Amino acid sequence: MDQFKKPWTASPDGYRVPYAVFTDQAYYDQEQEHIFRGETWSFVGLEAELPNKGDFKSTTIGDTPVIVTRDQTGQLRVFKNLCMHRGALLVREPRGNVKSFDCVYHQWSFDLTGALRGVPMRRGVRGDGGMPAAFDMVNFGLDALRVESLNGVIFASFSRTVESLASYLGAEIVETIQRIFNRPIRIMGDYHQYIHGNWKLYAENTRDPYHGSLLHLFHNTFGIYRATTQSGVSHMDATKRHSLLKVKPYAATSNESDDNEVYKDVRSYNTEFHLQDASVLAGRKEFDDGVTLIINAIFPNLLLQQIANTLAVRQSVTYAPDAFEIVWTLFGYADDDEEMQMIRMKQANLIGPAGLISMEDGEAVEIVQDAVVRDGKMTSILAMGGGHSCNTEHMITEGPIIGFWENYCRYLGLTSERAE
Ligand code: FES
Ligand SMILES: [Fe+2]
Repeated sequence: MDQFKKPWTASPDGYRVPYAVFTDQAYYDQEQEHIFRGETWSFVGLEAELPNKGDFKSTTIGDTPVIVTRDQTGQLRVFKNLCMHRGALLVREPRGNVKSFDCVYHQWSFDLTGALRGVPMRRGVRGDGGMPAAFDMVNFGLDALRVESLNGVIFASFSRTVESLASYLGAEIVETIQRIFNRPIRIMGDYHQYIHGNWKLYAENTRDPYHGSLLHLFHNTFGIYRATTQSGVSHMDATKRHSLLKVKPYAATSNESDDNEVYKDVRSYNTEFHLQDASVLAGRKEFDDGVTLIINAIFPNLLLQQIANTLAVRQSVTYAPDAFEIVWTLFGYADDDEEMQMIRMKQANLIGPAGLISMEDGEAVEIVQDAVVRDGKMTSILAMGGGHSCNTEHMITEGPIIGFWENYCRYLGLTSERAE
């Protein structure tokens, strides 16, 4: 990886990232060790997915399989999904309710605290076989991760030394989670989106307010986000790991001549398009602060969104340098009335793999991956907004993407001028 240190620099005309970072296995392996299994907190689920004792879900952090469960005392626990006997995947179902985790291979049985409770044939069969006298079940409990939950959003860490979750997130991100998860939620369902691209292209995409009103015809043409009609802010936490994009309508209503001026050459602003069923955009104001759109990217694997009345978490799961999955979990509030449930269902058409807004993001990731495959030494240029990772009170910037890369370099021990 040394040969790529050079282009990874900030220069007066912008910040450059070598494309090899999206294609090389060596980077991918380092990320698993130093980011996903390093000094970070990764999203693993929502408490509403595990309401009862014995409920579990299986998921992954990076590409390491883990089990999230609620034990018999109600405590949340996260374990590596790996049998302590010979390494089999212990839980193979996506979710369920159990009294113990029983490995299918030789049926070692673990309780919900991770302790090994049963080993068939431990004392042999009719005097034959059996485990040695020195074998002590106490030494073979499941490998436990640290767990913290913030307003029902569950994070886990492989690190024993990582800072607390609140400190890792920073005050503004904590407030954003508390604002959205302000009362009990009701899970509506999942989308699973497989993307033939590198997970970091999606980390860039979700920290990129610049593309919002250019790539997305629906956003722009139907006014969900248009730089001329909505004001936005692009903030990061103090370490610049996380990004928070927030949009609010301007107090004055849209001025069509402004729109036509700014977007006159932009493909995605097309006044010829009309909705046959405008009710897909019918919604309700539900937050007093007037913010209508939040895209909150939390390093390394979570995106929390509020787009109109659609609320969702998106978890990135990595498979390979050119393959990852986004697990979208949509939710509303437990006290939503029937009309509100219908509003959220209808607006769900905007997001997910085929969403009227979101489908272009998956495609944007893939067209980069396809193009850079043999040009690892070439670099991108991140210059919009000045080529710096700073907070802005506007959205015409690529600053949060640079913040992501500075942290990426820091975690992987790579040289980045701005990471120092
Ligand atoms: S690998 Fe799990 S019991 Fe043998
Ligand atoms: Fe997008």
